[in-house]
Amino acid sequence: MVIGVVHGPNLNLLGAREPDKYGVATLDEINASLAVLAAELGATVDCVQSNHEGTLIDAIHAGRGRWAGVLINPGGLTHSSVALRDALLAVGLPFVEVHLSNVHAREPFRRHSYFSDVATGVVSGFGAVSYTLGLRGLVARLASSPAGR
Ligand code: DQA
Repeated sequence: MVIGVVHGPNLNLLGAREPDKYGVATLDEINASLAVLAAELGATVDCVQSNHEGTLIDAIHAGRGRWAGVLINPGGLTHSSVALRDALLAVGLPFVEVHLSNVHAREPFRRHSYFSDVATGVVSGFGAVSYTLGLRGLVARLASSPAGR
């Protein structure tokens, strides 16, 4: 079972970027911890990060037929991208939305997500642990229902 891990804009700077909000773990460290957990769960991860919306959409399209599901932190695109939402719906892959910070405890504009209402689940506010919780949840859901619903 291959899980696509999709990181949106600015997440390449994790570790250095506003560590009070996003923690000190780097993206490489987060991806490494996901690879270890995936192996424990009998899965593998295929990780991609881009600062470009179209590149993220292309990566999701390329995951069709290869990925069983998607773990996605859309970054700022959470609050703006109809096109990225549409890409996930277009490929029909179940996905879990994750955020390092608790988006509901921040500026009002971060409270709206273009993804949450069509996600299998949402994890927000646990720092890097949001990703591992999200991966556990996604793999468990896929094991019980391959459609991820
Ligand atoms: C984020 C929250 C978003 O509002 C923000 O734009 C990000 C990171 C998070 O992981 O907490 O880039 O998705």
